[in-house]
Amino acid sequence: MPNLNTRGALSIRNVTKIYDPEGVNVMAVKDCSMEIAAGEVCMIVGPSGCGKTTLLNAIAGFHSITSGEILLDGELLCGPGKPKADQGAERMVVFQHGALFPWKTLAQNVAYGPRVQGRSSKAEAMEKARDMLAEAGLGNVTEKYPGEVSSGMSRRAEIVRALINDPKVLLLDEPYRAMDALTKSIMHESLLETYDRTKVTIFFIIHDLEEAIFLGDKVHIVTTRPCQLKKTVEVNIPRPRSYQTQSSEEFRHLMEEVNEAVHEEAIKAFQAGERELA
Ligand SMILES: Nc1ncnc2c1ncn2[C@@H]1O[C@H](COP(=O)(O)OP(=O)(O)OP(=O)(O)O)[C@@H](O)[C@H]1O
Ligand SMILES: [Mg+2]
Repeated sequence: MPNLNTRGALSIRNVTKIYDPEGVNVMAVKDCSMEIAAGEVCMIVGPSGCGKTTLLNAIAGFHSITSGEILLDGELLCGPGKPKADQGAERMVVFQHGALFPWKTLAQNVAYGPRVQGRSSKAEAMEKARDMLAEAGLGNVTEKYPGEVSSGMSRRAEIVRALINDPKVLLLDEPYRAMDALTKSIMHESLLETYDRTKVTIFFIIHDLEEAIFLGDKVHIVTTRPCQLKKTVEVNIPRPRSYQTQSSEEFRHLMEEVNEAVHEEAIKAFQAGERELA
């Protein structure tokens, strides 16, 4: 089925980010460019510490960039004369470590965004939150607190909390990293279902290469620090995808392609680490 989404196209153009803690320059991202089409699931893989989160944070507006520009649907988020993007509900982030309010129920957490933005009344926001949680298979835990449900459930609730704002882009920074394999596969299926429903653009940082191919339309492999696009692998496996997909010849071929590029960078990162230690 063609993706008819026309919102959420991200252009990352020649972005450089230099941190300057106490006068010591750390170049995290260098001249990095990527084009992400509206409604695309774009997976980012690369060595640890290479600058992936830095790039995501710049898109979210959590920190500035040193040079280059980032556009959303052709509009400048940050670039010349505007080092930092405004934070906005059209770009929602789900972090590596959970960020639900522990003192609010799942429904209250999900309803929070529309409530504080004054977009709907409390009753309307709560009703929508409960409906959306039910759609995500969490209908029977809407009145529970995050501490009372499994980590998988609270991560799913976090994605619902992001989606209730109807974002153009969902920015995911390894939200399932610490989970066991079974929970993770359930999370991925749930994310794919959500994607099929919403067709929201997804920018997803992930370490696991198989998962990157299973979920993505494209896998962008980035270099060891400073982060730059090394290679883009297109995943032309039709959706909906199932776990059987992973045993296909096509999948294995893609795995080899991604693995080779990542491995090269991992070796460089390792050698760079050794040089730093020497
Ligand atoms: N606030 C900061 N000040 C100074 N340096 C920073 C800051 N944040 C990150 N860095 C450095 O920038 C580099 C890139 O960090 P970043 O967190 O973006 O990498 P990453 O690819 O997300 O890593 P990981 O895969 O481990 O999550 C690292 O060398 C890190 O130490
Ligand atoms: Mg990171």
